[in-house]
Amino acid sequence: MKTITEKILALKKEKNAVILAHYYQEEAIQDLADYVGDSLGLSQKAAETEADIIVFAGVHFMAETAKILSPNKKVFLPDLKAGCSLAESCPPDTFGEFVKNHPDHVVITYVNCSAEIKALSDIVCTSSNALKIVESIPKDKPIIFAPDKNLGKYIISKTGRDMLLWDGACVVHEAFSLDKLLKVYADNPGSKIIAHPECPPEVIKASDFAGSTSGMINYVKDNQPKKVMMVTECSMSDNIQVENPNVEFIRPCNMCPHMKKITLPKILDCLENETGEIIMDQETINKARLSVEKMVAIGR
Ligand code: 13P
Ligand code: SF4
Repeated sequence: MKTITEKILALKKEKNAVILAHYYQEEAIQDLADYVGDSLGLSQKAAETEADIIVFAGVHFMAETAKILSPNKKVFLPDLKAGCSLAESCPPDTFGEFVKNHPDHVVITYVNCSAEIKALSDIVCTSSNALKIVESIPKDKPIIFAPDKNLGKYIISKTGRDMLLWDGACVVHEAFSLDKLLKVYADNPGSKIIAHPECPPEVIKASDFAGSTSGMINYVKDNQPKKVMMVTECSMSDNIQVENPNVEFIRPCNMCPHMKKITLPKILDCLENETGEIIMDQETINKARLSVEKMVAIGR
């Protein structure tokens, strides 16, 4: 009798499929994935894979981005309800009106949004290249930045650019408070605090380092702090503990309820029965591809 992991691996081979997993996925899923990465790395892999099928262990906007970049492949999301509070905060009709009312603005959107929003954008970014992308826009050009206001505020603090921000937030990172953080720090004096830029500004300000998912991983790898508070999704500390045995990871952390909708049985169902396929109309794919490809070309 085969285990669920053995069944997934056999079907993956038989159907020439790849499993791409975000760092926020549980360890068992990361272990059988062909590639584990942050949003940018996953987009790059989706664009270059030779596989016929992509199973995306992540959330809806990530699988959609993979479909935009590889429209001739079948892309599956093991649970089509795995959404994102940032994407939900930015409905296409309201955002379309907002863009129309600011015709002179360059529209930069964080990849955590729907394909319709990407289609309304000039260029997409992820947290690991947002600074670089904002800096690539001529200084005299006004910018709309959506949907994450906290990432937007972080970029403003770093670049001094006066951007028009959309009022969206990530439920996972917005929930961290400075108060709670300081209480944990008081019990663990001297620990390094590293935070994702989706956190509130006061949390970022109190941190030793702010950076994207891969930025945070590299910080731990390169600096080997004795104790570190990773102010982000809980799977991050779990997953990088093995590679950093001398680092003590201190909570707090928050779980992303959307990322955690993905499970091994749902991945098996995708491969066995082709459930959860991402279906998009060609016009949206074509429009969104322009802004996503610009981001992939700029890279990290
Ligand atoms: P990155 O992978 O770009 O750091 O994004 C983090 C995140 O919240 C994904 O949903
Ligand atoms: Fe969206 Fe936040 Fe979950 Fe990432 S962690 S998928 S931004 S809700």
